[in-house]
Amino acid sequence: MLKKQILVTGDRPTGSLHLGHYVGTLENRLKLQDDFNCFFLIADLHMLTTHNDKVEELKQNIQSLVLDWLAVGLDPNRSNFYLQSLIPEISELTLLLSMICSVPRVQRIPTLKEKASMLNDQENYSVGLLSYPVLMSSDILIFNASKVPVGEDQLSHVELARELSRRFNSMYQELIVEPEPLISDFPRLIGTDGKAKMSKSLNNSIFLSDSEDEVNKKVMRMFTDPNRTSADIPGKVEGNPVFIYHDIFNDDLDELNEFKERYRKGTIGDVEVKKSLARRINTFLEPIREKRLKFSNNSEIFDIIIDGSKKAREIAKENLEKIKDAMKISFKEF
Ligand code: TRP
Repeated sequence: MLKKQILVTGDRPTGSLHLGHYVGTLENRLKLQDDFNCFFLIADLHMLTTHNDKVEELKQNIQSLVLDWLAVGLDPNRSNFYLQSLIPEISELTLLLSMICSVPRVQRIPTLKEKASMLNDQENYSVGLLSYPVLMSSDILIFNASKVPVGEDQLSHVELARELSRRFNSMYQELIVEPEPLISDFPRLIGTDGKAKMSKSLNNSIFLSDSEDEVNKKVMRMFTDPNRTSADIPGKVEGNPVFIYHDIFNDDLDELNEFKERYRKGTIGDVEVKKSLARRINTFLEPIREKRLKFSNNSEIFDIIIDGSKKAREIAKENLEKIKDAMKISFKEF
């Protein structure tokens, strides 16, 4: 049997996943689940780089993240779900990689700059945060991943992982696979408020765990064309979040084209377009809700994590050993 290539990707356990996560990366994961040997990471150490004061919520967040994964159809029998902190080899590799990664290089990473600039006090810019991209490189390289499906915002981190693999290979030994990022068709989903990105912290998200009622409310409150104060004013379809979401979640093209035409002419109200959208989103979420109910047993979720982490750790151990050999710091005889 042909050995499958390795795929690594994951999420920080900072709360519930939303539609932006779905179209940005979960959908890709589902498609690739059978073709690759998948490692899905719960990045709890990454969460500490920005939320070192939120440790009490961590366990709950880990659980709800995995529940979201299971609910959308990621399958622990086909893939490994693993917890970063249960694989100390990842941390060890982070330290080793930090020896071949310059401080100015990480400081130039736009995603990191953005994270750092959001701190209310630069005194809180931790060494841990600075090495966020190195830790992420370690997550990827320790498994010799060849594919890394991520949202657009994570691309610059994957670029560092690529660079570090090349540097390692040329400095020590051709050992580490150079990973390739994989961006989805919808790398960035606009928020319900019309802001550039759906994000939990911006309060503009529709969560995968939202009830039918919550979805209805959020869609009815959604930002549309602000110039349209009544239904007979011709409206703008392009860039309008309601239509961006319709394009994704409404597969009835006849209806959609008719909506667009009438919207442009000013012969349809926002309410009708939104009601249809809410229905579509609820239809999309229904099977996810059903699956979620099946997996609500906590102990089962932690069994899945522990099991996946054990398997992943075996591979990480083996690969780290080779890396240390190449760096001449493998003194097994002691
Ligand atoms: N930084 C990623 C995010 O915030 C999560 C992540 C951590 C990750 N390690 C990774 C993604 C390795 C892909 C590969 O979304």
